[in-house]
Amino acid sequence: MNNETPYRNYYRQRTANQWRKIPAEIGDPSAIRPFLAGNWKMNLIPRAGVALAARIFDFCHDIKDVDMGFAPPFTGLSTLADYIEPDFLRREYGIGRNVFLLAQDTFFESKGAFTGEISADMLAAIGVDRVIVGHSDRRANLGKYFGFSSSVARRLSKEFLTHTLARLKQRENIEPQVLATIEHLLHEKNHEVLKGLATFLENELNERAGESDDAIQRKVQAALRNGLQVILCCGENREARDAHETFKLLDRQLRIGLEGVARPTMPEVIIAYEPIWAIGEGAKPAPLEQIAEVHDFIRNLLMDLYGEQIAARVRILYGGNVKPDNIGDMMKLAGVDGALVGSASLNATDFAKIIRFGLSD
Ligand code: 13P
Repeated sequence: MNNETPYRNYYRQRTANQWRKIPAEIGDPSAIRPFLAGNWKMNLIPRAGVALAARIFDFCHDIKDVDMGFAPPFTGLSTLADYIEPDFLRREYGIGRNVFLLAQDTFFESKGAFTGEISADMLAAIGVDRVIVGHSDRRANLGKYFGFSSSVARRLSKEFLTHTLARLKQRENIEPQVLATIEHLLHEKNHEVLKGLATFLENELNERAGESDDAIQRKVQAALRNGLQVILCCGENREARDAHETFKLLDRQLRIGLEGVARPTMPEVIIAYEPIWAIGEGAKPAPLEQIAEVHDFIRNLLMDLYGEQIAARVRILYGGNVKPDNIGDMMKLAGVDGALVGSASLNATDFAKIIRFGLSD
């Protein structure tokens, strides 16, 4: 397929164990439409977001057969929701309902004492269409940002444990096993073990602490319950890739993330494959063969879980250094239905080119 242009609208078929795209008439309402979404991460104040969207529409007002999405930070959602209101877009740019407002995250409880969190019903109430859940910035990086590691390491210091042991002994109902473990750790012969354990956990949490698969599952459920579509992210880090554990990890992330999503609801879910090692400045996008291989793996997993018909239609996006010069080749792959774009989505001409698959027409 290499010298051909990628299809803008298509069906997907599976023959001889292989997934293929079959071109559809442009605008065929039952065809699959690619989805190109910009994840602005923690960038742009609200009016800068509107200015960026306006420039992108200027470049892309003729594109009606591709879905586009913008995920500003929470503070930018309302302003952008007002701006991209469909009637306005239709009048001003002639664009139809192919522009979607995305939130970067949500919380799973609907209200209560959760300072700083935003619930899915709150997002739905201001006009959000879709929500990104399980982005690797949240799955893996929270430990580093919020210092979980140093607070665990502090709790494993001799001073802290000595103090805690004394405190716990005053209380009733403390499990004897807890006291015995602390006493054991505090024993002189175990000091080196304690130090090693603290260092091990500190490093481990620094690298890996973040949202768990279970929290992500609850977020998926909360979003769907409130009528929001979900962009469920998955992806392996470099270590897992080098250890040939990519598929095992993706299998776990997706099976847990999708648990409880019934067949009729599955069309409300979009999957985004974002290998962590391919994300951000200085990284390289995943090679096309690896993207193709993983997207097929995910699609086959969806087939196991939901059957062939649904698996053929669920959109699977790729994310990680998507740029105007590589989107075209990615979109030619039979398993790729769009992209989740980070830094290039902050530049109007680059994102507009990505929406046009890097083609000049
Ligand atoms: P980059 O496109 O900046 O690599 O970011 C990808 C990403 O994380 C999108 O969600």
